[in-house]
Amino acid sequence: MNKIKEQKQQKYGYSPISDEEVFGIAKEYAAQHYGRFDFVVRKAEGAWLYDIEGNKYLDCLAAYSAANQGHHHPKIVNAIVDALRGNYASVLSNMVYTDVMALFSKKLATLLPQLGPRFGNQGNKVLPKNGGVESVETAIKAIRFYGFKQKGIPDGKQEIIVFDNNFHGRMITVISFSTTEKYKKGFGPLTPGFISVEYGNLKAVENAVNENTAGILVEPMQGEGGMYQPPEGFLKGLREISDENDLLLVFDEIQVGLGRTGKMFCFEYENVIPDGIILGKAISGGLLPLSAFVSNSEIMDMVFTPGSDGSTFGGYPLACVAGIAALDVIINEDLPARAAKMGEILKSRIMKIAEHSAHIKEVRGRGLFIGIEVNNGNAMEYCQKLLKLGVLANDSHGHTIRISPPLIINEEQIDYLIERLEKVLLD
Ligand SMILES: Cc1ncc(COP(=O)(O)O)c(C=O)c1O
Repeated sequence: MNKIKEQKQQKYGYSPISDEEVFGIAKEYAAQHYGRFDFVVRKAEGAWLYDIEGNKYLDCLAAYSAANQGHHHPKIVNAIVDALRGNYASVLSNMVYTDVMALFSKKLATLLPQLGPRFGNQGNKVLPKNGGVESVETAIKAIRFYGFKQKGIPDGKQEIIVFDNNFHGRMITVISFSTTEKYKKGFGPLTPGFISVEYGNLKAVENAVNENTAGILVEPMQGEGGMYQPPEGFLKGLREISDENDLLLVFDEIQVGLGRTGKMFCFEYENVIPDGIILGKAISGGLLPLSAFVSNSEIMDMVFTPGSDGSTFGGYPLACVAGIAALDVIINEDLPARAAKMGEILKSRIMKIAEHSAHIKEVRGRGLFIGIEVNNGNAMEYCQKLLKLGVLANDSHGHTIRISPPLIINEEQIDYLIERLEKVLLD
């Protein structure tokens, strides 16, 4: 290896091993559970990713919304480094209190409006976990327990209404109610207790409700399911059905919350307040695993008492430090407003491309959560071409190119992206 190349490699990344070596080692020793791009990222900063030679790629995936604040946001990095250097970062067990756990909970609980207002106005409470799917399971526990304790549904008979093409993560209970065959085939026995109905179809929801229904779990916009926005009035209708039938209504905003769609929370578009919400990804600025289930204090206190739940790392100090800093960045930099503004510019320019493109079936989305559905149903083909031109994007549900860059993206970066989208979509 020549000297200059070696120095470059040292500058960008953890080790000087070549991309070919990375592919070889990863293929030999790492599970192949992702169809990865042939792309080794050595450095990530703001909206840019860098390969070993320092070539730049615009990140239009943002780790499925985990990097909303941009990669390595200095305020979040500094908070984490301070905690490590100050010896208040390590996991301590949840048998003791920490100031950062208390302060993170307060920040998140008070960022949200009063959830489940029909249960009273005594504030929200937060139950922190690690990856998003863990908080989805926490929410499922809450809905089931509510059905058992409050509605008198016999334990084991509780049912939850979910939606076709849902995506809530990859653990057994959650894949059990996925309608995507490849997510669950061969992984049985699956967890019962879920009824899936068509997304956006309120009549189907009404028909699915019975005496064992404890709640509804829904994404206010579907991310992995193809970047779909439900018909207007859908969330309001779910609220009404939940109120009429005493169901807990929980929104999974892991991908679309925290500014992504141009509002702090996607549910604000319909002005509908859920009983519980699940957040993850950007909640720690893409630097550490952190997620949370948040609900009205009355529900949280009814369901979760000492011994009924737990997690070694859930709510540990370092994650909470990152969480506080990450939420501060979203609030102080007004990232929801930025996503709305930049999203409008980006979407209107993509719509212009669509007017002249033979490849595009539909452009949809809100804020910086934009889907470009392609006519041939093979979005990955376009994503591979984009990568060669210096843009990282992936598909949603096979047929749609997902454009969801960090919310700090600027107009110059939008120009860069549009130039490349034109190249692959106007040929
Ligand atoms: C809506 C939604 N829920 C849950 C999850 C699962 O989160 P995690 O991958 O952190 O477990 C995801 C991940 O993409 C998601 O988009």
